Amino acid sequence: MVSKVVVLPGEGVGPEVITEAVRVLNWFKVHRGVEVDIHSELYGVEAFSKYGQLIDIDVFNSLVQVDAVLFGATGGPKFDKLPTAIRRSHNLLAIRKHMGTYANLRPIKTFDELIGIIPLKASVVRGADLVVVRELNGGVYFGQPRGRITMADGIESATNTLSYTAPEIERIARVAFNLARVRNGHVHSVDKSNVLEVYSLWRDVVDKLHKSEFSDIPLAHILVDNCAMQIINDPKRFDVVLADNMIGDILSDLAGAITGSLGMLPSVSFGDVNEEGRRCALYEPVHGSAPDIAGQGIANPLAAIMCIGLLLKHSLQLPDEALYLDNAIQKVLASDCRTPDIQLLGKESVSTSVMGDEVIGALNELSKG
Ligand code: NAI
Ligand code: MG
Repeated sequence: MVSKVVVLPGEGVGPEVITEAVRVLNWFKVHRGVEVDIHSELYGVEAFSKYGQLIDIDVFNSLVQVDAVLFGATGGPKFDKLPTAIRRSHNLLAIRKHMGTYANLRPIKTFDELIGIIPLKASVVRGADLVVVRELNGGVYFGQPRGRITMADGIESATNTLSYTAPEIERIARVAFNLARVRNGHVHSVDKSNVLEVYSLWRDVVDKLHKSEFSDIPLAHILVDNCAMQIINDPKRFDVVLADNMIGDILSDLAGAITGSLGMLPSVSFGDVNEEGRRCALYEPVHGSAPDIAGQGIANPLAAIMCIGLLLKHSLQLPDEALYLDNAIQKVLASDCRTPDIQLLGKESVSTSVMGDEVIGALNELSKG
């Protein structure tokens, strides 16, 4: 059966890195017989000038009916100038919510080949391999009421709301425990329960689920401030890190430091399996639109390319093909052919598209056997 993939390159470096990711997916189509139908659609400023919205409404609605969505990045100076109502509606958060993709998995792994460019000590990062499981459909990014007001006395005030229901916590905790089981690992559940009631509920729900269904999986609770320090101090003590929407967002960028660059972090978000047996899946590099380097052709495409690996594994059920891609990426990293973010000081770096060429070249070589 041919799998349908919708690609939303988005803005900034999004289109630059997604171009390379799509080339890689096409390579698997042409050379390995992977049956995919790839459609690229507009999202962001360009879509606004065409449709008056961040995304064509039919495309938005179709995202729940395809096998996978590959998203580049959103945001940046042009995006910020769009009317607030436009930025708030049918945006990336709305796409995540519409697709019901509440479980965001962010694998974070230190490649041996990159240890030389990571500011942390080799002994600290070598072998680090963890996954942040971030709740993606709730929490403070979605809570109501929200907004900015100017009060009668002219003083400005702003409000956001952090709230979670027990079922919302339970379903993301279940994803984390199941993942730890597959990995033969353990779970750290991150919260700030010493200060906020939401997190004391979080802790209670995680504990209850642990006792009833996952008592074989080691579980530790950790406060977010301590966790931030420990991830940098001793990343190898972590395996599955369970966190809410905002904490997961921040900790996964932080953990990016142990990979050397935000350009090395892919992610996938899943919903539940629906009545038709379909599970929505959204693949995105963790990084944003990187306006500071956008348009220069120097963004690292590996996070986006690694999203293709996740897509092959999870949406197309082709783990061997995913492994094939992992091997090609490792080959490229071993070759010193790198974009500036992961290049050694003083060494010449390559462009986004050359990095893509290298991955394709490595795939070609591997397929020759
Ligand atoms: P960012 O992730 O775009 O960039 C942070 C730093 O990492 C920058 O120095 C950038 O140059 C570097 N970087 C990011 N991706 C890279 C890559 N592939 N290769 C090499 N270097 C890379 O985060 P920032 O600067 O905080 O936000 C920029 C814009 O992106 C904002 O408008 C923000 O709202 C948006 N954003 C969007 C996200 C998304 O689309 N999922 C996620 C995070 C931020
Ligand atoms: Mg982020």
